[in-house]
Amino acid sequence: MISLKSAREIEVMRRANVIVAEILQELKKKVAPGVTTLELDALAEELTYKKKAQPAFKGYAMAGRVYPRTLCVSINEEIVHGIPSNRPLRAGDVVGLDFGVVYDGFYGDAAVTVGVGEVSEEARRLMRVTEEALYKGIEQLREGKRLGDLSSAVQTTVESAGFSVVRAFVGHGIGKKLHEEPPVPNYGEPDRGVRLREGMVLAIEPMVNAGGCEVEIKEDGWTAVTKDRSLAAHFEHSVAITKNGPYVLSRL
Ligand code: MF3
Ligand code: CO
Repeated sequence: MISLKSAREIEVMRRANVIVAEILQELKKKVAPGVTTLELDALAEELTYKKKAQPAFKGYAMAGRVYPRTLCVSINEEIVHGIPSNRPLRAGDVVGLDFGVVYDGFYGDAAVTVGVGEVSEEARRLMRVTEEALYKGIEQLREGKRLGDLSSAVQTTVESAGFSVVRAFVGHGIGKKLHEEPPVPNYGEPDRGVRLREGMVLAIEPMVNAGGCEVEIKEDGWTAVTKDRSLAAHFEHSVAITKNGPYVLSRL
């Protein structure tokens, strides 16, 4: 069942997602050579409590495993769910920051990918295309459209640029739970799938690989990497469907 949110609930979700966006903005400023991913995690946690919210990912159970940190930090060939560690960032790294909170009973969830110092031309293009695919998907979030319209818009944008869309992970409905119905794939056919309705709130999160779409999970049980070790990028917004079209809750 897909839960529909009232206008009041959407405003609470807006507040949760503004907290997420503000903290992501602070984390981006902190990204630099030598900074460890645990330092980013500690900052995310401190700012979360300062804003009277709770971390959404820390303690979250997925497939029988409990995520140990507040932030996911995924570097270079890591696609999503990288666990913060003592690893220092290096110039040229491509860093995905995925972050969520609970605020007033509702979840917020968003992600960005940024370069550390100067990054390669290919890395810049990969990040640009992934964010563009996210927005091409978001444009489809209108009452009367179908989920496949979004999926296909994302996939077409990515594949026309010569990159590939990850299948093993998908976006999701979001609300009183982090992961709600429906799953939101980044690949699919127009005019198929769930019909979009006012009050749906979806986390749209294209994961894009510079090489092939296959993934592997590292020995830590969480970190997803590209099988061919090509670069990956990930952008995510939580978006409400209103009668005026998409409302990007996690954009400042
Ligand atoms: N943004 C990710 C997602 O929507 C974050 C989940 S990480 C987890 O799936 F630790 F919470 F699982
Ligand atoms: Co998400």
